[in-house]
Amino acid sequence: MEKKEMLYEGKAKQLFATEVTDQLIVHFKDDATAFNGQKKGQIKEKGKINNKITNFFFKLLEAEGIKTHLIRELNQTDSLVKKVKIIPLEVVMRNLAAGSLAKRIGFTEGKLLRQPVIEFYYKDDQLGDPLINISHIELLKLAEHQELEKLIALSHKINYILSKFLKARKIDLVDFKLEFGKTASGEIILADEITPDTCRFWDSQTKEKLDKDRFRRDLGNVEAAYQEMYQRITGQKWQ
Ligand code: C5P
Repeated sequence: MEKKEMLYEGKAKQLFATEVTDQLIVHFKDDATAFNGQKKGQIKEKGKINNKITNFFFKLLEAEGIKTHLIRELNQTDSLVKKVKIIPLEVVMRNLAAGSLAKRIGFTEGKLLRQPVIEFYYKDDQLGDPLINISHIELLKLAEHQELEKLIALSHKINYILSKFLKARKIDLVDFKLEFGKTASGEIILADEITPDTCRFWDSQTKEKLDKDRFRRDLGNVEAAYQEMYQRITGQKWQ
């Protein structure tokens, strides 16, 4: 499958058209940004690791009945995906308090939440991706009521599947971000990525951070953490 023109360039990915109208190529970059692009850097081999981890998780979720945009992996850093219209929402699921939730409601990092918490952020760079509620989503017409219900149910199911899978590999799924898209036929499917860039992964025993917080907070050993997650998830050594 040949790459045609670049349709979009984000902080960590590029999206290309192909000769097939409803299929795109996603390319995962080594570039890393944090704090809305204020901090910039590179994480060696992140593109390859994130492509492979996303595909692994998407296949796992597909096997559990969750539809995703993945068609197939093309090479180390690129995958072929279905074209969808992205719903401009970042859906964040949380199991333990960390990051912005810990700050917002005054919980200590690592506190177990009594039940998973779901949050919505409006994908709008100019506004700085603000936290919004269901009433705002309806007001902004970002999703129909039924679509939103589907999206919430899917997010809880994904959280259940991933948490269980990772727990068996001695990883706590602290929180993560999802994005959904709508196909031409109006179906809501999972899109974007599930990687150490978009999830918080902690070693269940040592509570060591194995995700992008190592880059955000200058904790060192960033590459090693991404490789460790690849190994824990796939059961294979990184190269
Ligand atoms: O920063 P915060 O605590 O709100 O992040 C919650 C989760 O969502 C984290 O796992 C983080 O990596 C992810 N996230 C993301 N992209 C964003 C914001 C948060 O992947 N733009």
